[in-house]
Amino acid sequence: IMIGIYGINSQKDHSVKTTTSEVSRTSNELNALPIPALLEDKNPEEGISDYYLNVQKGTTNFMDDLLTPTLGYNGNYLGPVLKTVRGEEINMHISNELNDTTSVHWHGLETNGPEDGGPRQIIGVNSTWEPSFTINQPAATLWFHPHVIGTTATQVYQGLAGLIIIEDENSKSLNLPDDYGDNDIPLIIQDRSFNEDGAFVYANNMMNGAVGDKIIVNGAITPYLDVKQMKYRFRIVDGANASNYNLRLSDDSEFYQIASDGGLLEKPIESKKIFVSPGERAEIIIDFDKYQEGDVVELLTDTKLVMTFRIGEAAEDLTVIPERLTEIEKIDESLVTSVKTIELDGMGHMVSINGRKFDMNRIDDNVTLGDIEIWEITSNSTMMGKMGHPFHIHGTQFQILSRDGKEPPLSEQGWKDTVFVQADETVRIIVKFNYKGVFMYHCHILEHEEAGMMGQLEVIEQ
Ligand code: C2O
Ligand code: CU
Ligand code: CU
Repeated sequence: IMIGIYGINSQKDHSVKTTTSEVSRTSNELNALPIPALLEDKNPEEGISDYYLNVQKGTTNFMDDLLTPTLGYNGNYLGPVLKTVRGEEINMHISNELNDTTSVHWHGLETNGPEDGGPRQIIGVNSTWEPSFTINQPAATLWFHPHVIGTTATQVYQGLAGLIIIEDENSKSLNLPDDYGDNDIPLIIQDRSFNEDGAFVYANNMMNGAVGDKIIVNGAITPYLDVKQMKYRFRIVDGANASNYNLRLSDDSEFYQIASDGGLLEKPIESKKIFVSPGERAEIIIDFDKYQEGDVVELLTDTKLVMTFRIGEAAEDLTVIPERLTEIEKIDESLVTSVKTIELDGMGHMVSINGRKFDMNRIDDNVTLGDIEIWEITSNSTMMGKMGHPFHIHGTQFQILSRDGKEPPLSEQGWKDTVFVQADETVRIIVKFNYKGVFMYHCHILEHEEAGMMGQLEVIEQ
């Protein structure tokens, strides 16, 4: 069935493009990379921020003259960027203007359970949620999205997601590209399918989750960005429901990865490709200095277009890629109090963790506040087949000790909150629980999470 729908879509798109050339006036604008606005702090007091988010319905013009019904925070699709600094006290004011319950989960944020915004912090229709928390973690790119049982996947698919940028003294001292919207650009990468009338097609293929046939970045289909001949930092978020992205540049040139989920890596890593699975982030720096005005370079996932960089004029560039970015203290293995096993099983609806499906009334795991644990996470292949799962834990950042007994790649030697566990692979992570309350851990393929591939852990003060 799904193949049929995709087929109709691509035919339709093709015919629209070739028959109505006057539409190209708007198609240029349609394809410019949208830069999400910065969320405004309404509190004039230094050190305390008050932020307002409305969860609302809207319509978005993705292609031609078609309007797609979408959801957004303070807008039609996606949301503004909450840019803040370590130490800041934040009061959030969130109102739900949908006809449905929602929640706002701060993915990657280290905070207590009641402020986490998971399935236990539901915001009713026409209700508000006003959590407060203090930013107490290193500079990083985090994100936020809904997390209500039964509607997480569809609400994200319709557009609910936004970015959090945390800075700290160290990140500000490094002279990295950090002018938001100028040389510091978020790339929220997703994929979506559309109907002939422009509406989204939510095609959960039952095995791998909902995958779309069009790549969308910051809410525009395979957009372009005009860049100068200088360094740009891109904050990449895999905001897809279910897709992994294997990102590289069309000329196979090198860029630098400087951060993983939970913050800066110790040193920049020169690489030609990066892999992100749903929920993961990576910050990279591309230096466009080596190109000429008029050059075009594409960002691809495997061989598929993600977006295009159009190289413009030369520019003075005072930013640097320092040899050393930060210091990451290794969590001390000798302090581990328990070693736990996480078995990820199945595909489609037949998914489970340690043989069980999610139950809101069951705490799967108890942890003492401040404890350090090792989790051994395995993706088991079953009779249905093999697949990997992006495994995520709320409220903490962990470190990867090994993949199948081998040292993880350099890009995974920083802070992580989501790790892709390949089929038949065992990933050992070390994690410290510094915040109290009930937290989720789950597969970040949202259709797997919805099908019950999620558990709850409770961190209790002794
Ligand atoms: Cu991105 Cu349970 O979250
Ligand atoms: Cu999360
Ligand atoms: Cu999964």
